[in-house]
Amino acid sequence: MTREITPTDARVRQEQTPSHEMIERLRQDNDRYAAAHDGRRRRAFVLTFGCQQNEADSERIAGMCVECGYALTDNAADADLIMVNTCAIREHAEKKALSVVGQYKHLKAKHPELIIGVCGCMVAQEHRRDELKRSYPYVDFVFGTTVLHRFPSLLYEKLSSGRRRFCADSEDHVVPEGMPVHRESGYRAWVSIMYGCNNFCSYCIVPYVRGRERSRRREEIVAEVRALVADGYRDITLLGQNVNSYAKGCGWDYDFADLLEELDAIEGDYTLRFMTSHPKDASSKLIDVMARGTHIAHHFHLPMQSGSDDVLRRMNRHYDTARYLSIVDELRAKIPDITLTSDIIVGFPGESEEDFEATLTMLRRVRFDMLYSFIYSARRGTPAAVMEAQIPPAVQSARFERLLALQNEIAGQINEGSVGSTVRVLCDGVSKNNEKLYSGRTDGNKIVFFEGTPEDTGRFLLVTVERSEPFALYGSKK
Ligand code: SAH
Ligand code: SF4
Ligand code: F3S
Repeated sequence: MTREITPTDARVRQEQTPSHEMIERLRQDNDRYAAAHDGRRRRAFVLTFGCQQNEADSERIAGMCVECGYALTDNAADADLIMVNTCAIREHAEKKALSVVGQYKHLKAKHPELIIGVCGCMVAQEHRRDELKRSYPYVDFVFGTTVLHRFPSLLYEKLSSGRRRFCADSEDHVVPEGMPVHRESGYRAWVSIMYGCNNFCSYCIVPYVRGRERSRRREEIVAEVRALVADGYRDITLLGQNVNSYAKGCGWDYDFADLLEELDAIEGDYTLRFMTSHPKDASSKLIDVMARGTHIAHHFHLPMQSGSDDVLRRMNRHYDTARYLSIVDELRAKIPDITLTSDIIVGFPGESEEDFEATLTMLRRVRFDMLYSFIYSARRGTPAAVMEAQIPPAVQSARFERLLALQNEIAGQINEGSVGSTVRVLCDGVSKNNEKLYSGRTDGNKIVFFEGTPEDTGRFLLVTVERSEPFALYGSKK
């Protein structure tokens, strides 16, 4: 069902999906099943690996399962349908997903009616689809990230024909709208504003597994955020691999900064965040919108990847350290309380001791509040995987440890500096690691522990910081 072709970019179709006919048929089948089993519905279990985009996709998969008449369970052993949403960013992510799928073999042996589906970035790669087809005969169907909305149709086909389905990605640039969403949280929400990536950083698999950039139209996003605020959502994160290139090439007369400004104008008690910003497209206009905004978190996640200009060039990042620092300086001048976080890759092919030292120098210069650091992992089909001078794992690990040690020291000092201050925290309830304490996140996404009550969950609180660690703050409610 095609709704409308955007005149300025006829390649992008906005589709009202998924197929309501398939959903209806599945729902009727599941209703019949429940009627024959004392009201017990078939259950669906959705397991997610990877980043926030995958979490957002899993919430849509769960939403479609519910529409199709399944009850949700968080126990795989109890499920009639298991969906594994995979990640391909590093080898470790793929190994973990494959090992979990491997463990489901015995569940299928006990419960032959069990349906197992695998989706997400890993299976957007042909060699992984082939591997699942060959070596995991109990996997029933597989589909990539660009055809998420066809999930009910694939499931229905499997159930009605019994045949296994291995669905490749679509090349037709669909921006699916109208997908049901089952949100994990009642107060934090993800909102995808665009899909795919055009950047082809030389180490990264994402452009190959998520396809080209496709932006959702402003009206759809504004309507979604407005509805979330009205429903009491307190923390809304706009998602895209490079939100700064939102609407680029669409011929629309607005960009990401305009979108953010329009969303910020929605009245209510909520915080707006976004991920991820690519330094090559971070604009003064965006920083100005953040500085004058009322709901926009004073947090900027700006992946640097490396502090060596030579490595950045070979990573195909399209900025150098001087440009990176100029964004940081502008952010700090215009938004003095900004929290800065970043991603770093250690051990990229050809990274010399000098290149690595340059990364440490940048850490000392910028003083990030938090870092997400990764050891470089070669991804099949990317240019970096065949570059000369791959760095031995022992050297990678030693550098990784040095990076962590320096960052711990810096983050420890920064957090120590906030002792005595009062921070606004969105409470997430009882801490998963310490049942005696409640936890929450600041505007800058720092974790804070304090003594709370069940009513605090999902609310903004003021907490006075009394003690700090490199990765956490401890305090008391004001
Ligand atoms: N679109 C975002 C990044 C998404 S992937 C951006 O460009 O900022 C999240 C992070 O994973 C990246 O920033 C990078 O630091 C890391 N990463 C990506 N590919 C990797 C690889 N092959 N090995 C190690 N880390 C990788
Ligand atoms: Fe990967 Fe680069 Fe795209 Fe980020 S911008 S998803 S690192 S290719
Ligand atoms: Fe995210 Fe992993 Fe895919 S990081 S975009 S789920 S490869």
